[in-house]
Amino acid sequence: MTLGFPDGFRWGTATAAYQIEGSTTADGRGPSIWDTFTARSGLATGDPACDHYRRYREDIGLLSELGIPYYRFSVAWSRIMPDGRTVEPRGLAFYDRLVDALLENGVTPMVTLYHWDLPEALQAEGGWPNRELADLFADYALTVHKVLSDRVQQWTTINEPFCAAFIGYGNGDHAPGIQDEGAALVAGHNLLLAHGKAAQALRSDGGEQEVSIVLNFAPVLTDVDDAAHREAARKFDFLHNRFFLDPLLGRGYPPELLADLAHLGTLEPAIADGDLEIIAQPLDVLGVNYYAPARAMPLEDPEADSNCPLPGLRGMDVQPPRGELTSLGWEQRPECFTELLLWLQEHCDGLPLVIAENGAAFEDEVVEGRVHDEKRVRYFADHLAAVHAAIERGADVRGYMAWSLLDNFEWAMGYTQRFGLVHVDFETQERVLKDSALFYADVVARNGL
Ligand code: FCB
Repeated sequence: MTLGFPDGFRWGTATAAYQIEGSTTADGRGPSIWDTFTARSGLATGDPACDHYRRYREDIGLLSELGIPYYRFSVAWSRIMPDGRTVEPRGLAFYDRLVDALLENGVTPMVTLYHWDLPEALQAEGGWPNRELADLFADYALTVHKVLSDRVQQWTTINEPFCAAFIGYGNGDHAPGIQDEGAALVAGHNLLLAHGKAAQALRSDGGEQEVSIVLNFAPVLTDVDDAAHREAARKFDFLHNRFFLDPLLGRGYPPELLADLAHLGTLEPAIADGDLEIIAQPLDVLGVNYYAPARAMPLEDPEADSNCPLPGLRGMDVQPPRGELTSLGWEQRPECFTELLLWLQEHCDGLPLVIAENGAAFEDEVVEGRVHDEKRVRYFADHLAAVHAAIERGADVRGYMAWSLLDNFEWAMGYTQRFGLVHVDFETQERVLKDSALFYADVVARNGL
């Protein structure tokens, strides 16, 4: 049986600048927080990653060979404005060439303006807890728009503000590696403000375009269905799935969430008059990243710190995942994907959705020039079927971007986690199509599964 997708469904792959580009000092690029964080923590760095800055033509060739018509990539602020403010034309020129090369190969570019790589110079001014960054981000967005908007129609402001704010400034597992949950909440608010101001800037510059933001969602499961477990799940659900979404939809922060976080004392004072209006710029589509659900349980002491990225979300813990895990230790639950999309359809009053990322890391091996990654093929097949089921039940899903085109630099995990449709040998930079790439190309060609 074929599971057909709607006509015009957008099939693509996604990447992010710091995870693939390498060449971190080329053409005047300034350091980003990921350069300094990885160096300081002794972690693997984004150099050379996939050396995509120099090999982008080869990589775009893979897209055209596979017949995948959309490509979501991010622009590095630290290439465009090495100090966060002053334009470096050579950095802009790279993305100009990249967009031309995509279009020459019949691939439609989708730009994400911020995928976590803040210029270090702006971290030196306090980073995202400093609200001035919202205006600077809007200036940067406009600068990129002026150069690419004659050829790019799909614009995403920010990727996963949850991770940028709470993992960057909350538990500090990501750059800039700061552990200050009060500051993390302010960072979250300022990222939303930056989104709103950038959306205004992009629209003020004219042109036909779709403006979106990409959020990561995790449906929250519990082992037991009682009041205490439901409340634990509610807390994590509101932090993870609604902190960013509800203000974007014009509803402000959910009152229960404000109450959960009130004792930290920083979020409400950070909300200036007019901020919520700026944040609630109309979205043309919502970008949805889904990988896995979360599990929550109540703590006996309702005042006890949480083990989640924001310890001050008291009285609940996130529990270990279950079943057959990916190599990153993530649970595989395609049915949660269907439920998530149906919930979003309802909660966002019919706002069109695009899956901006979905995929899985497994331990792959090249054997006689082939990579038989059955587990990834199964993950994609199951999750695409889950998207299809949501569409059948009324979700307005317009597209799907597989994460990722290439094995790449997986943030704090370095090069240990392979998410690519294409295997990358990080010593030789040789690319090998995995079976999942051929599987996905076939889905795209049939517009169905
Ligand atoms: C998402 C990120 C992306 C990648 C995947 C595995 O949270 O947006 O860059 O790391 O996870």
